[in-house]
Amino acid sequence: MGEPVLRKKTVPVTAFDEALRQILEDMFQTMYAAPGVGLAANQVGLTGRFAVIDVHSEGKRRPMAIINPVIESRSGKIIEEEGCLSIPGFAARIKRSARVRVRAIDQNGLPVVIEGEGLLARCLQHEIDHLNGVFYIDHLSLLQRLRIKREIARRKKSKLF
Ligand code: NI
Repeated sequence: MGEPVLRKKTVPVTAFDEALRQILEDMFQTMYAAPGVGLAANQVGLTGRFAVIDVHSEGKRRPMAIINPVIESRSGKIIEEEGCLSIPGFAARIKRSARVRVRAIDQNGLPVVIEGEGLLARCLQHEIDHLNGVFYIDHLSLLQRLRIKREIARRKKSKLF
């Protein structure tokens, strides 16, 4: 959680080339292996503005890359439990927009508009937060955030992870 790259705003992608496609492929594999439903470039030490998402269940995968994503509109509010691969073992109830419309470039270098609700809406907001250097726990109250940080410190000290 303290890694500086995770706290930096990522840099827009300008080259949609084979190297980027390979990186995205690696990120999908890392995400599926975790397992997780989303992974942002800065979570794997990269500085580009892109993330991979798949909110579908095992067996019917639907890989979705979002490159240079922008949230165009949002509506509704919903509070649900959320976690992050970069803060293993924790989850918290976070208020998010219920629906979002995201404009991005996909893994084929083509412009896409994604209308998300439910888990997809939550995941899009979570990953785009990452690309802006923001963690889900930043949406919590100071008191809740301190409680999680204290618990992480306690687990580290007792070498639970
Ligand atoms: Ni995350």
